[in-house]
Amino acid sequence: MKYAVVYASATGNTAMLAEEIRSYMKNAECVYFGEAKENIPPADIIFAGFWTDKGNCSDEIGNYLAGLREQKIFLFGTAGFGGSKEYFSRILEQVKGHIPDENTVIGTFMCQGKMPVSVKVRYEKMLESDPENERIKAMLINFDQALSHPDHHDLEELKAAVQESIMM
Ligand SMILES: Cc1cc2nc3c(=O)[nH]c(=O)nc-3n(C[C@H](O)[C@H](O)[C@H](O)COP(=O)(O)O)c2cc1C
Repeated sequence: MKYAVVYASATGNTAMLAEEIRSYMKNAECVYFGEAKENIPPADIIFAGFWTDKGNCSDEIGNYLAGLREQKIFLFGTAGFGGSKEYFSRILEQVKGHIPDENTVIGTFMCQGKMPVSVKVRYEKMLESDPENERIKAMLINFDQALSHPDHHDLEELKAAVQESIMM
């Protein structure tokens, strides 16, 4: 089986998932591993990875997915906000919206991913000027929860999702 891992990762979280997939798939042939570009060699399965950018994938992955033809695709991604499967499902639906119908999404996986400290500083400034704002407080709690992700448990879940998808 030939596979490619095509992903975007601005700060390294999604790259961790990509590396985990490559190590899990060590007995198959990796034809490409890296960012989206033209002329990626043909593969039986494409593992397409994204970081969440305003509720969707970033443009380079959206454009890449839009160009895929009759491929089996496993979608994986990270998002700063976690804690709810529904939230991840909504993002995945947005990302799937880039993929033409002739392709098959064989599996998906998402987990939380840490955000840069600059985000926390911004939240803290917001809270300073609006100390009772519960939404900002929740965003700060979420920021701290995200710091350890992707963690070992996320990577185990990713492997299980990949295993289930490629056996089908
Ligand atoms: C410009 C920008 C927009 C973002 N938009 C969202 C978002 O809409 N929802 C979310 O949950 N996380 C959002 N995030 C957080 C990232 O998706 C998250 O930290 C992700 O794990 C980064 O992955 P990477 O390290 O592979 O780049 C955003 C981050 C940036 C920098």
